[in-house]
Amino acid sequence: MSAPGENAAGATTRIPILQAEGITKRFSGLVSVNRVSFEMYENEILGLIGPNGAGKTTLVNMISGTLKPSDGELRFEGQPIDALPPYQRAHLGICRTFQVMKPFPGMSVLENVTVGALFGRGGEKVMAKARRSAREWIDFTGLSHRVDARADSLGGPDRKRLEFAKALAMEPKLLLLDEVMAGLNAVEVEEVIELIKKMRERGVTILVIEHVIKAIRSLSDRVLVLHHGEKIAEGDPAAVLEDPRVVEAYLGRRRQ
Ligand SMILES: Nc1ncnc2c1ncn2[C@@H]1O[C@H](COP(=O)(O)OP(=O)(O)O)[C@@H](O)[C@H]1O
Ligand SMILES: [Mg+2]
Repeated sequence: MSAPGENAAGATTRIPILQAEGITKRFSGLVSVNRVSFEMYENEILGLIGPNGAGKTTLVNMISGTLKPSDGELRFEGQPIDALPPYQRAHLGICRTFQVMKPFPGMSVLENVTVGALFGRGGEKVMAKARRSAREWIDFTGLSHRVDARADSLGGPDRKRLEFAKALAMEPKLLLLDEVMAGLNAVEVEEVIELIKKMRERGVTILVIEHVIKAIRSLSDRVLVLHHGEKIAEGDPAAVLEDPRVVEAYLGRRRQ
């Protein structure tokens, strides 16, 4: 197979970890994602942007397996994954956070992250090992001071840390982040950017959906733009963000 992933980083033999070919989702006749094809390469950060309703979350739902594509094919590490339910994709290493976070509210931070450690790629872990690994990810995300707090007592930024710790405890190869910076202030956004960079340093491949363009610029190796379910641009972040079609897609929305 050829290696079309040569990019600004100068990598020559990058392996696609994810391949999407002609992915389409129709909801009762309306096309939300329309024949989208793209690839992701090991250890890269791909920014996924587009106006509200563009189809970003729907695309991520099809990758994580909570929605079935109407058409098209998804491959992870070269293998078709379309027939696999979400938990089997998680075992392969595809993990996601949710735009609306869903911690187990009555459980502590440690218990929440331990659940992630038990059900992810390291799924054969026994409880003691899962709790140890959970504690490591709680440290990594800067949440150790709240390890025994109930999940529903956490403030916004700590909830985001919990969501990251849960996802990381599943030992993802590919992490899908859906608008994790929504509602954060400038300082908190910086902290999350640093945390995402740290995750990449650990070898994780990351798809970032974000409205905070500064974050997209600072994190992404490449950017993919969806508009009305279609891919309208893909490539180098600076070039894509200046692309007239992309500017118009955003400005067009704002004027409405
Ligand atoms: N379960 C669903 N049933 C019907 N329509 C849906 C469903 N989920 C998403 N949509 C529609 O698909 C389009 C894309 O939505 P979404 O993927 O959430 O966009 P984004 O995340 O880019 O804001 C929207 O028009 C939305 O109303
Ligand atoms: Mg969305």
